[in-house]
Amino acid sequence: MIQLKKAIPWWAKIGGKITLSHIHFPYKLWRRLGIFQHGFMLDPLYAQRVFLRHYERVRTYLPADYTLLELGPGDSLATALMGAAHGAKCIWLVDAGAFAEQDVAKYADLQAQLGMPWVNQHYADIQAMLQDTNASYWTEGLRSLQKIPAATVDFVFSQAVLEHVLLSEFESTMAELFRIQPPGGIASHRIDLQDHLEHSLHSLRFSEKRWESALYIRSGFYTNRLRASQIVNIVSKVGYEILDQQNDTWDKLPIDRSVLAAPFASMPDKELLIRGMDLVVRKPQ
Ligand SMILES: C[S@@+](CC[C@H](N)C(=O)[O-])C[C@H]1O[C@@H](n2cnc3c(N)ncnc32)[C@H](O)[C@@H]1O
Repeated sequence: MIQLKKAIPWWAKIGGKITLSHIHFPYKLWRRLGIFQHGFMLDPLYAQRVFLRHYERVRTYLPADYTLLELGPGDSLATALMGAAHGAKCIWLVDAGAFAEQDVAKYADLQAQLGMPWVNQHYADIQAMLQDTNASYWTEGLRSLQKIPAATVDFVFSQAVLEHVLLSEFESTMAELFRIQPPGGIASHRIDLQDHLEHSLHSLRFSEKRWESALYIRSGFYTNRLRASQIVNIVSKVGYEILDQQNDTWDKLPIDRSVLAAPFASMPDKELLIRGMDLVVRKPQ
């Protein structure tokens, strides 16, 4: 399946995914077919690597009984277990849809594979798992964030999520994350700035009107196309201070600049060469 996906050109993926997104199969079936899926958190080693990567970056800033929020957990609620095992006393998992695996046996496998004896391996159901880890799963994106009390979340992290937040909601989402963190609260984000078609910049070929249309937004390949410096500007504008920014870059542009739409065509190479960014930010004390 992976080889087949690689062989399909980016333009055929756009057509194919737009067509498929009109077929109303249950999400679990799409995931099983490998056509639409929300990340890789069902893989225990991936989930552990992601959690530890963000946690290790920020642990020295965290109070003893910290509150954790994962934005966009995708296919799995593994962060409830991971967070509880690493001292989080209250955990929010906020996504834009109910995509997470609901079969509690999958989480018992994860605990067994990762050797997590400090968390109960025999939950009767997902509710019992969430209750025991003091975690809650909310699935209305920005609207869910708006329900969280101000200044309550010490540590926010997201992995391959910020690029999927709708362009029209990006600044409000950042402002909500800022609101729910106390002074000194910390956030760690990994952002994939490649297109989600061919790991290139094909998404930048399209006008904003077309790319931001309902058809494209619902298609499964949507990313907001914000570039690294634009994200940093918005995050700073809502009030965060930047503690660390690490960019991954291409050596040369992966696409001919002449095919890019405005405003991307006139952006400097330095900006377009950034294909991924790790950002650690803090709400000023
Ligand atoms: C590529 S998946 C990544 C999932 C997971 N973090 C991982 O690394 O496997 C992107 C996730 O971001 C979620 N997402 C998109 N917009 C969001 C929003 N405004 N608020 C919360 N989650 C959002 C999607 O629903 C999806 O679960």
